[in-house]
Amino acid sequence: MSLHTIASTPFNDQLPGTSGLRKKVTHFRQPHYLENFVQAIFHQVPSLRDGTLVLGGDGRFYNREAIQIILQLAAGNGIKRCLVGQHGILSTPAVSHLIRKYQTQGGIILSASHNPGGPDGDFGIKFNGANGGPAPEQLTNAIYHASQSISAYQIWQGAPVDIDKIGEQQLGEMHISVIDAVSDYAALMQSLFDFDAIRALIAKPDFRMAFDAMHAVTGPYAQHIFVDLLGAEPSALLHCIPSDNFGGGHPDPNLVHAAALVALTQGDNAIDFAAASDGDGDRNMILGNNCFVTPSDSLAIILANAALVPGYRSGVTGVARSMPTSQAADRVAEQLQLAHFETPTGWKFFGNLLDADKITFCGEESFGTGSNHVREKDGLWAVLFWLNLLAVKQQSVAAIVADHWRQFGRHFYTRYDYEAIDASIAQDIMQRLTTQLPDLVGSEIAGHPVSYADDFSYTDPVDGSVSAHQGLRIGCSDGARIVLRLSGTGTQGATLRMYLELVENDPAKQAQETATVMAPLVQAALALTQVEALTQV
Ligand code: G1P
Ligand code: ZN
Repeated sequence: MSLHTIASTPFNDQLPGTSGLRKKVTHFRQPHYLENFVQAIFHQVPSLRDGTLVLGGDGRFYNREAIQIILQLAAGNGIKRCLVGQHGILSTPAVSHLIRKYQTQGGIILSASHNPGGPDGDFGIKFNGANGGPAPEQLTNAIYHASQSISAYQIWQGAPVDIDKIGEQQLGEMHISVIDAVSDYAALMQSLFDFDAIRALIAKPDFRMAFDAMHAVTGPYAQHIFVDLLGAEPSALLHCIPSDNFGGGHPDPNLVHAAALVALTQGDNAIDFAAASDGDGDRNMILGNNCFVTPSDSLAIILANAALVPGYRSGVTGVARSMPTSQAADRVAEQLQLAHFETPTGWKFFGNLLDADKITFCGEESFGTGSNHVREKDGLWAVLFWLNLLAVKQQSVAAIVADHWRQFGRHFYTRYDYEAIDASIAQDIMQRLTTQLPDLVGSEIAGHPVSYADDFSYTDPVDGSVSAHQGLRIGCSDGARIVLRLSGTGTQGATLRMYLELVENDPAKQAQETATVMAPLVQAALALTQVEALTQV
């Protein structure tokens, strides 16, 4: 029961990626590995000393052990109070909300998002600052530098904290409040959406919905919000008991990994609305009867219909999307005369824009949508937004989407992932395309006139910071685009992503299949980048 200083030496691989530090569980379990990184956070965020830290995770394997270790480090580093989610569970958006609501100095989220869990799966840790958002690049770089010169960390050794029991406890001088993981977040959702209207929609005998928590963190949130507060049948909820390996699955809400849910929305007996969220509750997938809403379209539709939702009725300032996300939201912003921004991939780039009130909504093509209510993307928020829209508009999901395309144009969109490839091959592909970029401007790709081709660099309009080398963009004057970038979340080799977009303004041509419409652009992009030949796919 005392303070200990433990000698340690640096690990050279603790640079956080797109979303925190992500490694295999086995890697995190090396002696001192987690401790070093957390000590580096505490070193770089001095306001935490005498301050309050929010702590929780997505329930994956190693979550509970890691929480005990972090509590010991927090007590050893003079943190005054920790708010811990019961059972060590807190979704990513819930942590963001708790930091903001209780004005804490930051929070630690234990998650590798949608990556598989279990003893051989992935683990991750992210630090969010006092605004509730992911640490900006300057801070993650500083944490990395601190981790590179570490020689010791400080822990308060004591009996394990009972994280299953709600209430107050003590570790050394530090107070620990184990809190209900769901109630504050549910209250926030009630303040934004018309729960009465959604309840009436769900009660309609001809409205059938399903929500899939994918054995991950949103299970308890969905139970309380959809069943207790909105009156949904318990049978509408799938996989709502969190498990430490996500039932052996891949908790990523997309057409591949949530195939069983997708099947419910297809065919003659299709249900009217289905949605899923990921490991840590920040991603979402929206489906209607025989209809998949692309995340890029979802952002645009949310922006276009904001006035129908109570929390946004008083006005919207603008929208931001990550660079690879389709430009659908830009078209809405232009028509509504709102500001729109193109940022690098990763939620951390939205924080400054939200804090400065330059935007109200933001989103990414990777199933992430959110608003100024927190500083993270928020899966259940997006689901509730759509339910609120359906309740007000009394239209099907497909009808809402088709109306939107008619008014703003349809942005056909597809993405190819080349996972776990050799890092040098990935670099080579990027390099080859980089050297071709200057010659592409003025040429045509699959009949689309190229108007710009560059290595995307972003200057933050709020603090002037520059983030260079954020992916290669080839843009055409008719809105078509090819984007190539390296992933920053992989834990094995390199992952290369290719994103393609095509705009169709003629309503008569908007109902076509994405694969058919995009085939010529896909072929041209493959020929240009040589990605399949060079990765031998
Ligand atoms: C991926 C997504 C990105 C998202 C991130 C964290 O990052 O592409 O949009 O912000 O996961 O959820 P990537 O692997 O592409 O770096
Ligand atoms: Zn996630």
